[in-house]
Amino acid sequence: MNEKKIVGEKAVEFIKDGMVVGLGTGTTVYYSIIKLGKLVKEGLNIQGIPTSVQTEELAKQLGIPLVSCNEVEQIDVAIDGADEVNSDLDLIKGGGGALLREKIIAKAANKFIVVATPSKMVGNLGSFQLPVEVAPFGVELTEKHIRKYGINPILRQIEGNPYKTDNGNYIFDCSFPDSLNVKELEEKLNLIPGVVENGLFINMTDIVVSLDDEKNIVLIE
Ligand code: 5RP
Repeated sequence: MNEKKIVGEKAVEFIKDGMVVGLGTGTTVYYSIIKLGKLVKEGLNIQGIPTSVQTEELAKQLGIPLVSCNEVEQIDVAIDGADEVNSDLDLIKGGGGALLREKIIAKAANKFIVVATPSKMVGNLGSFQLPVEVAPFGVELTEKHIRKYGINPILRQIEGNPYKTDNGNYIFDCSFPDSLNVKELEEKLNLIPGVVENGLFINMTDIVVSLDDEKNIVLIE
């Protein structure tokens, strides 16, 4: 049983003809995008807004018409995965490095749908290290400010070099103590000069598509 495929494809049922659709990034929403590609071939008329270069390439291969977020009046629905989801439907995202574009699109969408296998559902956010996107300029100064909140940031690296996002920025993967309130943390982090965005998505999710203990599809609102 491919849980990611089941939840990814289920979310596509929310997409109707004529909609502008935010297309997330990752291995779960991948199945939503593949399904949308099939429906487009069968005549579904949508415009997609990709949240990463990776998703843009996939959508183009599948023939999904794309549009820039600056060209549309509204985004009807955005579908995306998550690294962690708590019972308030707050999220940690950014494991795939696309958090900035994902958050811009999720915030703008009339409906934000999260596709999450049961392994993503948690009591408290924070077992997964929180991705924080930062400008390369002054990165060590930014790191010092982040540490002041009791957070431990580790610069994401690929083959010994800093990982670069689609926006040319770096990412700190941050562990933080349970005592920190995630709603406050989201705001505090973004007040640090050099922090571009963080992967806490608070009060943004409308629906989570997941599976219950019996592996039935559940919509959590
Ligand atoms: C990318 C993300 C992804 O949505 C998140 O990492 C979940 O990915 P996956 O579905 O592959 O587990 O936030 O920046």
